[in-house]
Amino acid sequence: DHETPVIAVHPSRRVSKINPNIYAGFTEHMGRCIYGGIYDPGNPLSDENGFRKDVLGALKELDIPVVRYPGGNFCATYHWLDGVGPKDQRPSRPELAWLGTETNEFGTDEFMKWCEELGTEPYLCFNFGTGTLDEALAWVEYCNGTGNTYYANMRRKNGREEPYNVKYWALGNEVWGPWQVEQMTKEAYAHRAVQWAKALKLLDPSLILILCGQDGTATWDYYTLNQCLLPAHSALSTSAVPLIDMHSIHLYTSSNEHLPNATAPLAAERAIEITSSLIDLARIENKVPPSQPRPTICFDEWNVWDPIRAEGSLGAEESYTLSDALAVAVWLNVFVRKSRDLGMACIAQSVNVISPLMTTPEGIVKQTTWWPLYLFSRFMRGWTVSAHVSCGTYEGETAPVWLRSAVQTPWLDVSASVGEDGFANLAVVNIHEEKSFETKVEGVSGQVEVFTVTGEGVAATNMKGKEEVAIAESKWDGQGLYAFPKLSITLMRWKAE
Ligand code: AHR
Repeated sequence: DHETPVIAVHPSRRVSKINPNIYAGFTEHMGRCIYGGIYDPGNPLSDENGFRKDVLGALKELDIPVVRYPGGNFCATYHWLDGVGPKDQRPSRPELAWLGTETNEFGTDEFMKWCEELGTEPYLCFNFGTGTLDEALAWVEYCNGTGNTYYANMRRKNGREEPYNVKYWALGNEVWGPWQVEQMTKEAYAHRAVQWAKALKLLDPSLILILCGQDGTATWDYYTLNQCLLPAHSALSTSAVPLIDMHSIHLYTSSNEHLPNATAPLAAERAIEITSSLIDLARIENKVPPSQPRPTICFDEWNVWDPIRAEGSLGAEESYTLSDALAVAVWLNVFVRKSRDLGMACIAQSVNVISPLMTTPEGIVKQTTWWPLYLFSRFMRGWTVSAHVSCGTYEGETAPVWLRSAVQTPWLDVSASVGEDGFANLAVVNIHEEKSFETKVEGVSGQVEVFTVTGEGVAATNMKGKEEVAIAESKWDGQGLYAFPKLSITLMRWKAE
């Protein structure tokens, strides 16, 4: 700990392309995410569609490429047909994931319209609980059909002539979980996933199908990848159409203590590495030809979440702290570092439910975790470039406990990128509660723009009516050492190419 820390950035050493979809969102029919979140008809802040304009405006700042919908666990009993057509004829139904009543006032067409307003692509999740393959095929036809067919015509009758061209579809959500109304065994799931994938790709070979994994390190992941990553099915038109395009994994991290909380996202880095190996292993064992595209990982639920400490309905309305903002920044560093393997990552969720953005009837609040998300989504695009940090490491307790022996936890957690604009970007998270680190930053040149997110202490929050954690902009001449403040996120930018 006594030596001067060094961060060496090599903007010309590109590691891999960053898929913009790592900045994806997620809106579920859960708590106040849809109703009272993105959709609030009658509120003066809403437009003629009932969409909250302040929410749309804020989310536009995040430049979100894809949004997942309608769940989550909600999918497991959702029948999409309930949510289309004239609103006054849509049925209200008991909802079994979150034990409420679903009015179906907001459904597929409303979501598509909202996505168009936001300038984002939809990602839909099939009902693998009480749903059928017929229903899934009909949903794809409703969204994407161009012919003179029943469900494509139903969409036209409901007011939408052009297809929505929904690309991303998930083969169920957390179907392994005991909380599902219809929990599946890995054997039953793998069989069903392959059969559904075949039928869905026969209907529309351009679909991107996402397999339901667990946390990337489970027997479930090993088994389902092994059974489902097969050479292209002979029924499909060409060998360039794989059955499965992505493997979904989920992880939520949290601890009531700052350092285990801020370092916990490093577990996601190990999970990505393990999943990536499982994908290779399955392809080797199944003799998948190398010409068939390698599936990527879809980290379609990630965040800091402790349902016990969270207030509000369903333990979902987190009041995020500075510690959580640092943890989210470490999560995002992980995604940038692991860009080679990631096809998508969706923060769970986009509004009110475990979210950086909260609504009241009168307005919105940007939580502490908003700022790292904003900075990364705005700047950390293009290519991951090589970056190395040498500094002391945190040696204390970790959550989960296995993390301590599996990864290094440096006080400064870093990632770096170079964008299409030729700017190099360096993100540095200093998780230390007392120390600012005077650091040598190698590879910088010229004037450096600096964005800093910090606050008074680990418990600082924006939920008490005042913004305790915000962003500050400054400049640095790139000379000498740079002091990364204690408990801070720093994003540096300079012209590199
Ligand atoms: O994001 C909240 C919930 O967490 C999702 O519905 C579910 O998939 C996960 O367990």
